[in-house]
Amino acid sequence: MGLNLLLLLAMVATNILSLYHLSTTMISTKPSPNPNPNPPVPDHLLRQLQTIRATINHLTRLQPNPTTTTTAAVPSDLLLYTQLSPIASACRHHPDLLHQYMNYTPFSPCPAISSAAAEPLILRGCHPLPRRRCFSSSKQPSSLPTNPFSPVPENSILWNNYKCKNLNCFNPDLGFDLKKEKTKFLSYKTDLDLPISQLTDIAKKLKNAAPLRLALDIGGGTGTFAAQMKQENVTVITTTMSLGAPYNEMAALRGLVPLHLPLQQRLPVFDGMLDLVRCGRAVNRWIPVQAMEFLLYDVDRVLRGGGLLWVDRFFGKAVDVEKVYGPLIGKLGYKKVKWAVGKKTDASGVKNGEVYLTALLQKPVSR
Ligand SMILES: *[C@@H]1O[C@H](CO)[C@@H](O)[C@H](O)[C@H]1NC(C)=O
Repeated sequence: MGLNLLLLLAMVATNILSLYHLSTTMISTKPSPNPNPNPPVPDHLLRQLQTIRATINHLTRLQPNPTTTTTAAVPSDLLLYTQLSPIASACRHHPDLLHQYMNYTPFSPCPAISSAAAEPLILRGCHPLPRRRCFSSSKQPSSLPTNPFSPVPENSILWNNYKCKNLNCFNPDLGFDLKKEKTKFLSYKTDLDLPISQLTDIAKKLKNAAPLRLALDIGGGTGTFAAQMKQENVTVITTTMSLGAPYNEMAALRGLVPLHLPLQQRLPVFDGMLDLVRCGRAVNRWIPVQAMEFLLYDVDRVLRGGGLLWVDRFFGKAVDVEKVYGPLIGKLGYKKVKWAVGKKTDASGVKNGEVYLTALLQKPVSR
């Protein structure tokens, strides 16, 4: 309340000041022989007025309406945060979720319902989220494995966020069965596979070869690609959500780096930093084509010259892969090191005439 009053006072004061400024400018220029009937308004005043207008709009949007009792009061930390750092504009479209997320008592434990709103907000494009001043719950793991394929202490996962209450409950394809994970990325059964031994071999033999040291796995689930690459002494960071299952928690328990990042978010990596980017199952035809284009160009941004893009089993209708996605990837102008298309033979694949595409592409060294 105090903060709002202060802001309001400041606004009124600056308004009066600006009006005074404007009127004096006009009066003083009136008697001049200048033929221009509209004397120019100084730029800094225009900017000031714009700022004031934006602030008023902003506050009127956020001010709780005193006549309606259904609107929850705006959490003061949210108001404060809007002054400190800009919130992603998509947050504005989900005020209820945002209020739920920011509704907590500062310096106390964060309410579970408040924290539960974080991922739905991120998935709706509200990212980065505002920071909060409360204590999120966490547990101390009983023991931590030194190998990313050893069993993890699952009692350190906060299970109340999930329907399942232990790791065995999940479908073994989701990445929580570490015995099964241990065999992934190692074998070659069809042309769609690119085992790690082959990948590192190719990387060494390529023209302009440089070692693979740093990589990013986009939508990498529980981090198994990072785990396998760790054995090769390659550092892989994994972007992953915890949608319905503790993917972030699992990756962290395995000693891998999970980035809680949705697919539509700009990659938090500087330009030209990475040797390899892998797009796995999460990156697929369910992403709108235009969003996919932005994603691919952001991948290009973070890859170093001569770096590698691995599109791992992308799937779609055969005609779309040929006419839409193939050309989309082609726009990057990368060298095709591997380009394999194969029929998707499961029920929905056969029904919809779908194919898989596995591609390994090298970014040009210079443009
Ligand atoms: C990874 O690094 C360790 C320690 O330096 C070394 O012993 C091992 O041979 C390396 N592994 C590979 C695949 O390069």
